[in-house]
Amino acid sequence: MTVNILPTIVFNRGAVEIIDQTLLPAEYKILRITAVENLCEAIRSLRVRGAPALGVAGAYGLLLAVEEKWRPHEGWYFDGAEARLETFPAVVTLEAVRRHLEHAGRSIRETRPTAVNLGWAIDRALAICRGPWASPRDMLRALHAEANAVRDEDLDMCAAIGRHGSALLADGDRVLTHCNTGGLATSGLGTALGVVFAAVDSGKKIFVYADETRPLLQGARLTAWECERQGVEVSVLCDGAAASLLSRGGVACVIVGADRIARNGDTANKIGTLSLAIAASRYRVPFYVAAPSSTIDASLADGSAIPIEERPEVEVKTVSGAETAPRSAKAFNPAFDITPGTLVTGFVTEKGVIHPPF
Ligand code: MRU
Repeated sequence: MTVNILPTIVFNRGAVEIIDQTLLPAEYKILRITAVENLCEAIRSLRVRGAPALGVAGAYGLLLAVEEKWRPHEGWYFDGAEARLETFPAVVTLEAVRRHLEHAGRSIRETRPTAVNLGWAIDRALAICRGPWASPRDMLRALHAEANAVRDEDLDMCAAIGRHGSALLADGDRVLTHCNTGGLATSGLGTALGVVFAAVDSGKKIFVYADETRPLLQGARLTAWECERQGVEVSVLCDGAAASLLSRGGVACVIVGADRIARNGDTANKIGTLSLAIAASRYRVPFYVAAPSSTIDASLADGSAIPIEERPEVEVKTVSGAETAPRSAKAFNPAFDITPGTLVTGFVTEKGVIHPPF
């Protein structure tokens, strides 16, 4: 079987184009974003999401910031083509472009705090802009190349993660996963779900159990949709059913993604991951985290300082707009939790299956 890659996020003719993930699985729609403010809204509302894809969104967001500010002078030009770069207004100074990019970088970074990839990609692109460039055009050419490099490396890392991870899976295995870590969360085939797709691509038959992943249902809406589209058999379960499933035996391993990994292996990932890891440990089911090395935050010794995004109560108190709790009830809605590194059997990265300290 041949698995194929989604156009999750691309920079095309001066705009960031994404698949609007809030509409799936009912509707597949490409959203063309032409302003940084709209990109920030798209990130906050999870139209584009998943740690690696957020990294690409951060880098492309800086291209968009340049395009948006100087577009009215000359029409769109920031597609990296030399002829377009030539149209960049000569009166604009390097310092003015840098200031504008730093400002845009701050706005985009503030949208979601947990996934390290977002800030990491923005920092990486801004570092290029601080170099000793002779002109804004030279700097923008390099910025464009760097943003594309973030995307291309992500694509390559997914492929390598898939190669290393698929060796852990045997033909006929049943795998439990949480949230969405497939093509929709990356520029490639995905991380944890990418491992499944790589195994399937190599001829193995794999059955996926997808936690529905309340409150926003990334597992039911997105993982199941991706599995269906790649021809992989999938069963969706309520998050609360996962421990029971593991207790019955028959699940070869749990494999999840990550938003930030500390040096000791403590891992921030979608809320509910910690419960899964505890249940997997109780029933002796191997628990793997699949992530690119860009998700490791080497500045953190452990997970205690990882910022956890708190999301609006309405996400918990409604399902598809219908109220499911009394209005007076409060709601606890952290988007992520921290799984201790000691509960992780192995970290599947582009470098192989590794173990902390990182
Ligand atoms: O809130 P989301 O949907 O962005 O959360 C996504 C996750 O928790 C993923 O598991 C993680 O980002 C890894 S995606 C390859």
